[in-house]
Formats: sequence, C-alpha cells, structure tokens
Amino acid sequence: MTDLAKKRIVLGVSGGIAAYKAAELARLMMKRGIEVQVVMTESATRFVSPLTFQALTGRPVFSDLWDNRLDNGMAHIDFTRDASAVVVAPASADFLAKLAHGNADDLLSTLCLARACPLMVAPAMNRQMWEHPATRRNVSQLKRDGVGIFGPGSGEQACGEEGMGRMLEPEELLFDIEGFFQPKRLSGRKVLVTAGPTFEVIDAVRGITNLSSGKMGYAVARAALEAGAEVTLISGPSCLKPPASAKLIKVTSAQEMLGAVQEAVSEMDIFIGVAAVADYYVLNPSEHKIKKDAHILTLELAPNPDILANVVNLPKPPFCVGFAAESESLFEFAEMKRHRKNLPLLAGNLVQDAINNDISELTLFDDEGAHPLPRGPKIQLARQLIAHMAKLYDLSTNPKNP
Ligand code: CTP
Repeated sequence: MTDLAKKRIVLGVSGGIAAYKAAELARLMMKRGIEVQVVMTESATRFVSPLTFQALTGRPVFSDLWDNRLDNGMAHIDFTRDASAVVVAPASADFLAKLAHGNADDLLSTLCLARACPLMVAPAMNRQMWEHPATRRNVSQLKRDGVGIFGPGSGEQACGEEGMGRMLEPEELLFDIEGFFQPKRLSGRKVLVTAGPTFEVIDAVRGITNLSSGKMGYAVARAALEAGAEVTLISGPSCLKPPASAKLIKVTSAQEMLGAVQEAVSEMDIFIGVAAVADYYVLNPSEHKIKKDAHILTLELAPNPDILANVVNLPKPPFCVGFAAESESLFEFAEMKRHRKNLPLLAGNLVQDAINNDISELTLFDDEGAHPLPRGPKIQLARQLIAHMAKLYDLSTNPKNP
C-alpha cells in the first residue's frame, strides 16, 4: 500500500471561486505529512491571497514565470523535478483547455508541460461551461493523456445554478489522490463485486433484510478501481455513494442479484462476493399490506440460491473470493467455509465488529493459512485484500511466476 506521508506535491491553483477550498486541501495535505509547494495562476491570486497558502504550507508561493527568487530562474523545472505529482485544484475551464492543448504561457501551465510526474486535476466551473462541447473534448483528451480527473461533483454552484461543476470537497479529493498513487496491480482486469444486503419481500411494505451497510463491498470495489481494474458493482439496497468510475447495478433480492451476476460474470477475470445475501426468501409474498389480527403469522421461507457457489461452479469460473461474517469462532468457521465453497481466498470478520463500522478487522484465509490484517479503516483493509488477491490471481494465471 502507498502512503501519502513524505510525498512531494505541487498544488496548482487556477482562477475560480473554488480556490478557497484549495486552502483547506493544502491544510489536509500538510496534516498527512505531504510536502506541499503551491503554485497559483495570476487569476487565482485574485480569489485567495498567496499569503494564505504560504502560511498553511510554510513555503513561499509562486505564480510568475519570471520570478527571480530562485537562483537559476527555472521554477517550472525545479518544482516538478522531485515531485510525486502535480495536483491542480481547482482546474478552471480555461486551465483544462491549456493543458489539453499543451499551452505554456504562465508558471503553472509551463510546469505542467515540463513535469515528469503524474498530473491530477479537480475541475470546477459553471455547469454550462462543464457541459460545453469544447470542455468535453478537452477532458477526453486529458483522460487519453493519462491525467487523473477527479470530479466535478454536482450541487449548488456559486453562480446560483444547480448542476455538475462543483469542485470535490477537500477530503474527497485527498481520498482520490491517495487512490491515484496505489499500485496498478489489476490493470486491464475486469472485476465483479457484490455488496450490501439483499431485501426479500414479505408484502407491499415489509421485507427481510440484514444489517449490512455495503461499506466493505463498496471499499473493495473502490480498491479494485484504484488498482487499475474495470469494476462492476452489483449492490443490494445501500445509501452509500458508489465509487465514481464503477459500473453500478442496483438490485433488491438475492434472485435479482444472482440474475445480474449471471449476466455480467462471463467476461470477468475476478469475482468478489462481499454481499450479505439473505439465505431465505418468502415463498408467497403478499401483493398488498398484510393486515394484523390476533393470530400468529407464519411465513414460509425457501432457501435462496448461493450466488458465490453458482459462480465457482461455472465451467470456466473467474478467480473467486468470498467473505465470511461470523459471530463466533471466526478462524474455524471461515476456514471451513473456504473449503466448503472451494475458494482460493476468503476474507473473514466478526459481525459485531464489522457491521456498519468504518474501522474494523479482517483476516485473509488462503492455502497458506490465516493472515490477520491490522485493524484499520475499511478502505485500508480493502486495499490490502486487493494486493493479496492480486498476487494469488497472478499465480493462478501464471503458476511459474512465484
Ligand atoms: N453468498 C452468496 N450467496 C448466498 C449466500 C452467501 O453469494 N446466498 C456469499 C457471500 O457473498 C459471501 C459468502 O458466500 O462471499 C459467505 O456468505 P455467508 O453468509 O457468510 O455464508 P453462508 O454460505 O450463507 O453460510 P452461513 O450463513 O451458514 O454462515
């Protein structure tokens, strides 16, 4: 896993009202131990004073190509020489256009052209500017050039309009930047992830479900994306925001989840079943709300299909990973489940600890035994799971490569 601490980031700020959010981003970066060098466009300095960034980062801020504070007068070369990345936030429509066309008429655009490190941008502009064909062309070009594009988000804009164009919040941006640095172990791979609970209908207003929030499954999908995979996320009911670049398929019941998995699985390299699938469904659900009376109500339940077993037993199954949420004897039950389900890798946790928590514990079980991961945020656990899985996957596809 890649840590942000000790990275050197050039934070480019271009002209837009979202420049004020870049001050908070600089503060968060400093808090994570990143060395931050701020470079502003001339118009950015009209929104926020360079002094603000200087105070936050403890470094002088540069914006002029002809600045003589550096002995060799080559700020555009010096700043990116040992940089881990350049992050431009906010990136205005004009700045995206400059980047897409390789223009270099100020310090920030020149150092973006002269850099040898990765470039990430966080667009921020009025929604019509974002939707304009010229901006769409520029963004497509930047994607083709390997530039990381984070956001924009949608919502209320400074101009009073609603729509796409808001710069992502600083915490979200830092999260995306961290993701960008993760090793691309699954580049070119297609990964299918199931997540969340399922909901089995009893009547028009009731159903059977469980306490799964989907947090672990969404974190696994995100970690797979960060590792360079193309990810399809099949999710039961969940309020979580899915990772932006995953293909999301929303389902309700276990049967629907199975149908969606069967439709998608043939082209997948890897299947990761994180969903807490209901083991039973109601045999005769009522179309209308069941009225209460004084009698005992009996529901007839029938077993749901095991989605993971279905995939494992395909003639040409993808590499399969299972999850086990147990309430006791984790090591014993998880290992038994791995054998019973015939899985090369299974991740297990204790439900009391994992359900709805952002921080939990996870143990990986494979042919070599149990590998407990250090307690941490779910995204951190998911990244470690993906790293471990990628090694086993490579071995399974190329057994001669130790
Ligand atoms: N799973 C599945 N379909 C089901 C039940 C489970 O795909 N109908 C998958 C889960 O996504 C998980 C793994 O199987 O990857 C284990 O799920 P779990 O609920 O822990 O195990 P079960 O097989 O349902 O066994 P039990 O409930 O008895 O522990």
